[in-house]
Amino acid sequence: MRKWLIAGNWKMNLTANSARALIADLRKDLDRDAAVLARDRDIMIAPPAVIIPAAAQALAGSSIALGAQNMHFEDKGAFTGEISAPMLSQFGVSHVILGHSERRHIFGEGDDLINRKVLSALKNRLSPILCVGETEQERDRGNTLSVVLGQLERGLAAVNDQSERVTVAYEPVWAIGTGRNATPEQAQEVHGAIREALRDLFGHQAADTLRILYGGSVTPENVDSLVSKPDIDGALVGGASLKAESFARIVRARRA
Ligand code: 13P
Repeated sequence: MRKWLIAGNWKMNLTANSARALIADLRKDLDRDAAVLARDRDIMIAPPAVIIPAAAQALAGSSIALGAQNMHFEDKGAFTGEISAPMLSQFGVSHVILGHSERRHIFGEGDDLINRKVLSALKNRLSPILCVGETEQERDRGNTLSVVLGQLERGLAAVNDQSERVTVAYEPVWAIGTGRNATPEQAQEVHGAIREALRDLFGHQAADTLRILYGGSVTPENVDSLVSKPDIDGALVGGASLKAESFARIVRARRA
């Protein structure tokens, strides 16, 4: 069985101080059950890059993994304002979110750029979380699967032997930050298609091993029904990851 991954994407929120407080509250809630939770789920938080050192310190000795929200594809060089995989690794970062819809739509990132980041993450022993998802208009036009699978295939181009380290996050753009989550059935339809496409790309074993997360208005109220679907292997949580109580409840998701 695949282990779930419950991941919090803090986006551009919190400061080092409020992040330390949130992590302390999370640990108070989750650390006592860490061994039980670790049997079937991994937990991760992705703070803003500048908060990663403080978060790493606050997470010392915890089983909560540390992720980043973005990175550049080169290891170093004249790229003002950017950060690279080796810089993240040094603070114990294990995962990096790539191709988030906000990166695609606000900052103009395209599939080729995202693919270079995925390959750089793998080369540097980070686990990429590749985000894919359709806009409302694309869904209304019946193009959901072609958009999502196109992003998937282009984002994962030239990934071969390390494919099992990849995580995919299906985040429909219309569900992000709107309070309108995809229904478990809508999400499962896309997750199932992603799994099929991964079989074609990487073979059965890798496709059955790697995790496909759902993201978009995940809450303590809807997480159980989402993760009850066979191809939904956890959640990528935005707003609800900023409060210890709601994120801890989501971490404790149960199959309905
Ligand atoms: P919300 O949970 O706030 O909808 O954000 C989802 C998301 O974008 C996670 O990456």
